[in-house]
Amino acid sequence: MPEVLNRLHKEHADMSRLLDLLDRQLGLFAAGEAADYDTIGAMLQYCMEYPDAVHHPKEDLVYRLLRGRDPALAAEVGDLEEEHRSLAEMTLSLSALIERARAEEPVNREQVHNLTRDFIQRYRHHIAREELHVFPAARQVLSQDDWAEIDAKLGDRDDPLFGEVVADYFQALRDDIDRLAALAPGNADV
Ligand SMILES: [Fe+2]
Ligand SMILES: [Fe+2]
Repeated sequence: MPEVLNRLHKEHADMSRLLDLLDRQLGLFAAGEAADYDTIGAMLQYCMEYPDAVHHPKEDLVYRLLRGRDPALAAEVGDLEEEHRSLAEMTLSLSALIERARAEEPVNREQVHNLTRDFIQRYRHHIAREELHVFPAARQVLSQDDWAEIDAKLGDRDDPLFGEVVADYFQALRDDIDRLAALAPGNADV
């Protein structure tokens, strides 16, 4: 598999673990318990710093080439670049709401719940479509020269949460994600 796709696939797995943790927070919230707004705020901060700023632009490079090579597939999967923009907007909206809650300003609990639920669903759906339809097509259709072209345009910014060096301000979040992943079925012996 081309290295770029390997990397994007790993980032999806990482993002899915983050969404699992957010889902758990949503469950607490729905049960009327206190949600950990600091943790949720850190998750959204990460989404702005890495998925929105690095992961999605990398995918956009892949889609642009793929669209030229396989217009039928492009029509089938729709405008993923637009979806990236709308995910980023949703992240900003939810983040603004969570920051208000962190500042102990009044927030509408139903709005927090619904926006968080929609955020998780849309991210999961988006990742699934890329994994099921787009990456397999990219693997088949794009040439070595295409991958070299994509590679040449990539930046080399490290992932501050799931990379080898975890940023100090994300360390507590990384620990929470790892703890939850260790509890997942199939990981009982981790
Ligand atoms: Fe994407
Ligand atoms: Fe993605």
